[in-house]
Amino acid sequence: MKRFLNAIMLISVLALASCSTEPKSDIDRKVDELLSKMTLHEKVGQMNQLSGGAWLVDQAAKGEVGSILNCVDPAEINAVQKAAVEESRLGIPILVSRDVIHGFRTIFPIPLGQAATFDPAIVEKGARIAAVEATASGVRWTFSPMLDIARDPRWGRVAEGSGEDPYLDALMGVAMVKGYQGDDLSDPTSLAACIKHFVGYGAAEGGRDYNTTMISERSLRNTYFPAFKATAEAGAATLMTSFNEIDGIPSTGNKWLLKDILRDEWGWDGMVVTDWNSAGEMIAHGFSRDLKHTAEQAINAGVDMDMMSYGFIQYVEELVKEGKVSEKEIDRAVRNILKLKFELGLFENPYVDETASAKIDYAPEHLEAAKQCAIESAVLIKNDGVLPLSGAKTILVTGPLADAPYEQMGTWAFDGQKEHTVTPLAALRQEYDVIWEPGLDYSRDKDMSDFAKVRRAASRADAAVVFVGEEAILSGEAHSLSNLNLQGAQSELIAEVAKAGKPVVAVVIAGRPLTIERDLANCDAMLYSFHPGTMGGPALADLIKGKAVPSGKLPMTFLRDAGQAPFYYNHNNSGRPCNGTETLLNDIPIAAGQTSLGCTSYYLDTGYGPLLPFGYGLSYTTFEYGKPSVEKAELGRDDVLKVSFELKNTGKYEGTEVAQLYVQDKVGSVVRPVRELKRFERVTLAPGESRTVTFELPVSELAFWNIDMEYVVEPGDFRLWVAGDSASGTPVDFIVK
Ligand code: GLC
Repeated sequence: MKRFLNAIMLISVLALASCSTEPKSDIDRKVDELLSKMTLHEKVGQMNQLSGGAWLVDQAAKGEVGSILNCVDPAEINAVQKAAVEESRLGIPILVSRDVIHGFRTIFPIPLGQAATFDPAIVEKGARIAAVEATASGVRWTFSPMLDIARDPRWGRVAEGSGEDPYLDALMGVAMVKGYQGDDLSDPTSLAACIKHFVGYGAAEGGRDYNTTMISERSLRNTYFPAFKATAEAGAATLMTSFNEIDGIPSTGNKWLLKDILRDEWGWDGMVVTDWNSAGEMIAHGFSRDLKHTAEQAINAGVDMDMMSYGFIQYVEELVKEGKVSEKEIDRAVRNILKLKFELGLFENPYVDETASAKIDYAPEHLEAAKQCAIESAVLIKNDGVLPLSGAKTILVTGPLADAPYEQMGTWAFDGQKEHTVTPLAALRQEYDVIWEPGLDYSRDKDMSDFAKVRRAASRADAAVVFVGEEAILSGEAHSLSNLNLQGAQSELIAEVAKAGKPVVAVVIAGRPLTIERDLANCDAMLYSFHPGTMGGPALADLIKGKAVPSGKLPMTFLRDAGQAPFYYNHNNSGRPCNGTETLLNDIPIAAGQTSLGCTSYYLDTGYGPLLPFGYGLSYTTFEYGKPSVEKAELGRDDVLKVSFELKNTGKYEGTEVAQLYVQDKVGSVVRPVRELKRFERVTLAPGESRTVTFELPVSELAFWNIDMEYVVEPGDFRLWVAGDSASGTPVDFIVK
């Protein structure tokens, strides 16, 4: 009954909205006027996005291309634009798009690395720089931020997102939207953002890209929607549908997602584009009979623009004539497309200054910002007192990622030029006498014939720094892995260097959390750097030398073995949580009696816990957390939880700690995660300095979608922790009345 009443209310609200007397904006009037002049063929042309440049001039001249992607040459862009603006009947400009995912020319750390900074401000700055560089080349729309919650490092696209936590994901996504779009879409440096992939793409079963996802509505609402809702509310101009199907319905044909949630419930009025041929792929999914059917389903579900299926441009006019797609739906889609083009100022300024990019790309301030982001994105996961290598004079630099300018940029770095990359080898040569022995030529290299030479070189050095990890191509789209150990003979290389008996620092440059437990045993320190981009070398050199102090925190859980996936900190407790009494494989007696008593949710071989928890990261200094205190231990729904604690730098380096606030709703109408990140703050302290830090959390932010599928705060017992990672902290209880 409640749902029925809700539906009635919704319909009446919508009816009111549709005949609202609200004055139309100037842009709405321009869209109406232009739409009224367009033929059906011209309307469908706007819904058609094609990959290419100059060879699309003829179609542009016929008004059959609404947007292009993958052309970044200013002259070529102007040629296609000229055909559209000066030769097509209505002169509607083309929207030029590109995957600007973590920088355009100046490449920043991959988004997973940017998430490790826990610094939205630096992420926003990086997105703004990407927008300035990309728009200087003529690109006005990027397919970023990628918001897919990722709980399985076997999935190669964890590289592109902000990890496993919805709160961090939302903050990073909003920072990127603001950075790309700036304050005004009509500013020539404004780059329209695209929140993607809507939705649930990262939950692919087995971590295998494009695979099935089975996500309940409640999980969608509590875990996968929040970052999309936050970025939609932050003004994201566009959204991209995902390749995956959820419980049998491909997102590109999912009306509940694209109309009921996105438009009716959230009231978002941006433009929806498919992923690359994701409409056409509904045939392979077994959801569509043929390409014509995919066009019918996608448009009726709420898609506005078709990326590269060619289904819309071929069949929509037929579908309208057959009454399978209404011209009202077409007008809705074209309205969203034209509105964006007017908002971007493309009608007034369709062309790009072909001399601009040469003056802007790789500007010193861009490189400096990329370096600072790379510094903050590095996570120190082990240090037996050897870092920083401030006392060393001669060091051995070895490993396949020490001097790999292309690989260091990571996945989705199309327009970064490796000639501009500064590698760790080049940067360390400015700081030390370097003995350079690669040992391996690339991350998958198994040829150990140079290992003896490397070991001898290590014995001549004061310390050894081994750069291992992944070539860029080993993460990203369609690059899932079932084994997450270091590829090739990289682990053997670290072990070989360790035989020399000198301090060994391992630096991992990768696109995902790898299973590096066995490598930790063979090094005295490990810095984890998620493909750090153009300035990764200087950033890592400063950290190794001690000119900078690590502050990064893990945005994803690190596993002991890929077999533990999916594993994430904000999990539910299960009815048999691990309690430390577990019997491991080698402790089980021979011919042990059958029993399931006393057993809990764990693995016989790897036990229960991960290798390293979400939010973990060391510094060169140490921090001490005082017991948190709450201003009020009993709160009403309209109250604000205020948590204060002392944070002290108890070491000898100035450092920055990312203090984290976690909350648990101990009993709910549905089970609730054992912890959820609700706040974090980067706190910089001098040696010996301490500061009282206070987190303020409105009780309303403890709301979740409950047993009745209502978004509510449920009264009851709660627990909080303040700590430097998701597995630490002294619990403090409080009550919501
Ligand atoms: C790709 C990706 C998507 C990207 C698009 C355009 O297949 O899934 O993230 O934006 O195609 O390159």
